[in-house]
Amino acid sequence: MRFTNGIALMLFTTQLPIGCDSEAPPVDELTDVERAKVAELSPLEALPTDSTNAVADDPRAAVLGQKFFFDSDFSGPLTVGDDGTNGALGAVGDEGKIACRSCHLGSWLFDSRSNPNETALGSDWGARNAPSLINASHYEWLHWDGRMDSPWASPLGAIENPKSMNSNRLRLAHTVYAKYKDEYDAIFTPPLDPALDPAHPDAARFPATGKPKAQMTDPDGPWEMMTPEDRTIINRIYVNFGKVAAAYLRVLNSENSPFDRYVAGETAAISASAKRGLKLFIGKAACVECHSTPIFSDDKFHVTGVPQRGEHAPTVDKGRFDALKGLLASPFNTAGMFSDDPNTGKLEGLAQVEEETGKFRTKGLRQVKETGPYMHAGQFKSLREVVEFYDKGGEETGFSGVKDPLLKPLNLTSDEIDDIVAFLETLTGDPVSSDLLTDTSN
Ligand code: HEC
Ligand code: HEC
Repeated sequence: MRFTNGIALMLFTTQLPIGCDSEAPPVDELTDVERAKVAELSPLEALPTDSTNAVADDPRAAVLGQKFFFDSDFSGPLTVGDDGTNGALGAVGDEGKIACRSCHLGSWLFDSRSNPNETALGSDWGARNAPSLINASHYEWLHWDGRMDSPWASPLGAIENPKSMNSNRLRLAHTVYAKYKDEYDAIFTPPLDPALDPAHPDAARFPATGKPKAQMTDPDGPWEMMTPEDRTIINRIYVNFGKVAAAYLRVLNSENSPFDRYVAGETAAISASAKRGLKLFIGKAACVECHSTPIFSDDKFHVTGVPQRGEHAPTVDKGRFDALKGLLASPFNTAGMFSDDPNTGKLEGLAQVEEETGKFRTKGLRQVKETGPYMHAGQFKSLREVVEFYDKGGEETGFSGVKDPLLKPLNLTSDEIDDIVAFLETLTGDPVSSDLLTDTSN
């Protein structure tokens, strides 16, 4: 029985196209095992529903989210000013200069402004590279370290992070009131509180700026002076900003890459080198063990041995370990009072355990050709450098935690490295419509 199967497979794999006299089977011919693996990588599936965000698929929210994304009025003062070379967005102290778009640029929404371009410069230099947001709503865990468990929590972090937009939720609520009141009220109940109008007799209930003490330099900040009810009112506006931004990000998806067309049967859509690279990716090089699914990420966390380096990267980055603490304590996680479905069970069983040290989320690889430099602090300039890194089995020092056993020398030839790069370059799909990348802010 086994023998017969073997013959059937041999016949199948040795059917050479006319005119091909090579000894090796032609690259279009995949074994059944390879075929099954490839079928799991394409096409891009429909987005998972997000029950924690009631407006995730509300088109009005996506329209408003686009406005928010391009609006720099939400941001606070710059800490690092433009020195003529660093790409900073203005002079020290300038306010209203940083939009989401400032770090998520171009068709693929990644940072090409900060110089050096390894980590992102907002108000100040951050620790990480700004990733592409195209197809990012497919992830279950957001950010390099998964410190957000929903796409709507990511924007909240950007707003208040002193190195990113250096703003605060009170400022945000006032900006929403001043510029987007009607659009907000059309989507959410309750409507914005009229006391957010500075001319309202009760305007003192909502100071112009402020956020919770833990992140404030001023220990008796205006946030603490507010009543708990009023803080909840502001927190809800803050969260709704995130949910609206997430609704916009959900429409930013890209498919129909040459690789997708190849899997759909268009055999000439990718080169022979890319086809060999695909076989290595799912075979000898074992990339698919982590870069699985149609976004090429298992959405899990691994230590790959990427060393901390670069002008603005911290010497130590514990990745998932540090992220878990903030995630589990956050009032804005999927189990919290601002989640529209606090019972997903997603955070159950999670704890800040030592073995999470140094882990990062497997990065999706769609449009990766366009979005260098690579890795969480932009450690590698080119895809070839990345594949050479994996060929070595990762580096030996300069990172936290214990390397995943999958990281071991691969013994790839130089041609094989080129082939894997050629394959990675076939993962760029159609850019999203330019209408979606237009500044529509009020
Ligand atoms: C100063 C530059 C900067 C600004 C401004 C900024 N981001 Fe980001 N963004 C980043 C960086 C850097 C990361 C990765 C952070 C990390 O993992 O530590 C990121 C990550 C993200 C992610 C997660 C992507 C993924 O692959 O998991 C989302 C979503 C996101 N940003 C959306 C936004 C939105 C919405 C705004 C505006 C409210 C915004 N960003 C503003 C730099 C920026
Ligand atoms: C053990 C799991 C694992 C394996 C195996 C693995 N990767 Fe990764 N990959 C990751 C993780 C985790 C990251 C993010 C690492 C970081 O930034 O610190 C990553 C990042 C990348 C990036 C950077 C993407 C970007 O946008 O910055 C590329 C490219 C990449 N991997 C390609 C490959 C290739 C090619 C292979 C096979 C030779 C491979 N990976 C094998 C887990 C893995």
